[in-house]
Amino acid sequence: MELWRHYLTNEGRTIHKWHHYFSAYDVHFPRFQSRPCLFWEIGVGQGGSLQMLKTYLGPHAHLVGIDIAPQKRAIEEEQVAIRIGDQSDEQFLAGLIDEFGVPDVIVDDGSHQVDDVCNSFRYLYPRMSKTGVYFIEDVYTAYWPNCGGSLHCEGSIIEVAKNLIDELNAELSRGAVAPTEFTSSTMSMHFYPGLIVFERGPSDPKVSERIPNNAPTGISARVHRLRGRVYKIRHYSDLRPAGGSGPGPTRASGDGNSPVLFF
Ligand SMILES: C[S@@+](CC[C@H](N)C(=O)[O-])C[C@H]1O[C@@H](n2cnc3c(N)ncnc32)[C@H](O)[C@@H]1O
Repeated sequence: MELWRHYLTNEGRTIHKWHHYFSAYDVHFPRFQSRPCLFWEIGVGQGGSLQMLKTYLGPHAHLVGIDIAPQKRAIEEEQVAIRIGDQSDEQFLAGLIDEFGVPDVIVDDGSHQVDDVCNSFRYLYPRMSKTGVYFIEDVYTAYWPNCGGSLHCEGSIIEVAKNLIDELNAELSRGAVAPTEFTSSTMSMHFYPGLIVFERGPSDPKVSERIPNNAPTGISARVHRLRGRVYKIRHYSDLRPAGGSGPGPTRASGDGNSPVLFF
């Protein structure tokens, strides 16, 4: 709950987040800490969340705040760039990719208008880092008429995400659903109250074999690709008391190059 602590002890700019989003941040953000990371937040607000994320991510992170309101430019500080434009404007978004490169993390906390949310997602999701994560916050606004939404509103992110569940499962659907670029580039989708998160990466079914329960220990030569990294697959029974202390991903018995996943 590191970000939650930042939030509670914040003495900087105002942060505008629902409390329960912090447990989702804890699931999806730690892998971006203390390493080079390009983090975009659509919707700067008072700038507090960019400040909090800068502290959390560490000195190697570069953050870009995107907002339609020109006065938000004043929020710029070291490690934090602010760019003014409309999140629905593809030319503007393309210019940001040209200027900063492809983002590792995108958090959409912008207008929450049904069309804006989907336009940004459709344009940016296929163009971001292949192992990136895309957060869409306050998705309940897809039900709100003042945001252009309603229950079962065609084209809202809620309905788009429901259909993407089919695409996520396409390769296991026995031909019922044709695989798409989304299928091959998405590792998982996560639904929280008010929040949808897409994790990019190679999806498991295409790269892993089904491993039988009674697999022999000689299985250790198998490799497995996950999030672009190569892992060796070993059975728990391969663990030697002196080598590893227990189950779970570990480098303890690896060959020095590939981490090992135990099953
Ligand atoms: C809820 S606030 C963001 C809060 C901030 N992310 C935080 O957590 O503290 C929404 C922001 O989105 C911006 N915004 C509204 N429409 C936009 C659009 N079409 N494109 C980009 N930003 C927009 C607003 O100016 C406002 O600053």
